[in-house]
Amino acid sequence: MKKGSSNNQNGSESSDIGNNNRDNNENIPQNNESENNSVRITPWEVVGHVDYDRLIKEFGTQPIDSEIIEKFQKITGEVHPMLKLHYFFSHRDLDFILRKVESGEKIYLYTGRGPSGMVHMGHLMPWMFTKYLQDKFGSKLLFQLTDDEKFLYSQERTREEIRHYTYENILDIISVGFDPNNTKIIVDTTHIKHLYPIALEIAKRITFSTAKAVFGFSSSTNIGMIGFPPVQAAPCFLPSLIEGKPTPVLIPAAIDQDPYWRMTRDVAEKMGFYKPAQIHSKFLPSLDSQGGKMSSSKPETAIFTTDEPEVIEKKVSSAFTGGQATVALQRQYGGNALGCPVFWYLRYFFDDEKESDERFVKCISGNLLCGECKSDLARESKSFISTLKKRRESAKDSIEKYMYENEPYEI
Ligand code: TRP
Repeated sequence: MKKGSSNNQNGSESSDIGNNNRDNNENIPQNNESENNSVRITPWEVVGHVDYDRLIKEFGTQPIDSEIIEKFQKITGEVHPMLKLHYFFSHRDLDFILRKVESGEKIYLYTGRGPSGMVHMGHLMPWMFTKYLQDKFGSKLLFQLTDDEKFLYSQERTREEIRHYTYENILDIISVGFDPNNTKIIVDTTHIKHLYPIALEIAKRITFSTAKAVFGFSSSTNIGMIGFPPVQAAPCFLPSLIEGKPTPVLIPAAIDQDPYWRMTRDVAEKMGFYKPAQIHSKFLPSLDSQGGKMSSSKPETAIFTTDEPEVIEKKVSSAFTGGQATVALQRQYGGNALGCPVFWYLRYFFDDEKESDERFVKCISGNLLCGECKSDLARESKSFISTLKKRRESAKDSIEKYMYENEPYEI
């Protein structure tokens, strides 16, 4: 296992992809269904109960441990709840990025979204953290919308449909409050000329055999999908071209995007760039069960940024919980807070740490009923989404400020 070496920006032998020989290399990405067929994690699909500690081992990443949290604290003077609660639980080269920040060197942030549907609260979490990092580090941010990827992924999707979601998603991105002077939105089909030369350099260095191992492509995968990954890799190196020198990049993203970065890191140094660093988030649990993630394809399992208050109320009231079957049993045995999506929503979004710890103790000791938690979550979510909706409305007037070429974007 090359834990140490994959963390070293100069180490010539450090490869996140490895030599593509599964027997010799524990870092070979694949998806993590090897031992358990009910779990599947690729950039396009997350199925089953996710064991995050196991992902750290399988993907060969580093845990967000107390050491790295202390380094963060030294720079920011505080510990963001998403770090403290291990919502961001894993990283690559975050220590390298923090050293650069400390020494006053400019780093870029890079994140993105596949515009396959409307945005829900699960999507907002890494974006909110990205905004926090932008504010703390004063960093420039590239935000990529992979409209090409989402068109290619599904045979049913038309380009008009994807364009509609791209527009709607841009409003959500802007409403998170990124600094307009330090943020550029890249829409792949619009801004491809800025990415294409870099994507070509990357594509030339990656074999189909590697792409198959990393992304799980098969003979029935359409060739657009097979050719796509370098387009998502390109923004990792764009900052170096903009700045005219190798520029460190940190990518906050959910862990399912990791295959892209393993591939990119493998070619980075050969191309004269730093390996892009990552900070990986978990998935926000879906409202209908313990496993999986909130999904745009199952709208009842997620709270969307455009949901009406009655809809939020209904989704929350029919949410899965960790509660017992009856009030009497709940009082007697207590609930399973850690297996309860309502608890996690409240913890990540709305409760402060103390409130959440108290909620936990009251729940597991039978002194709290699911109805109370649900009513807290419904109230908080309605007010959060109502604020966001206003920001989405005013975002319509500032699209140009955020687009890569400061141009308008219309449906
Ligand atoms: N492929 C991502 C998705 O489907 C979108 C994306 C593009 C992205 N670039 C990114 C996500 C960088 C995180 C970081 O959602």
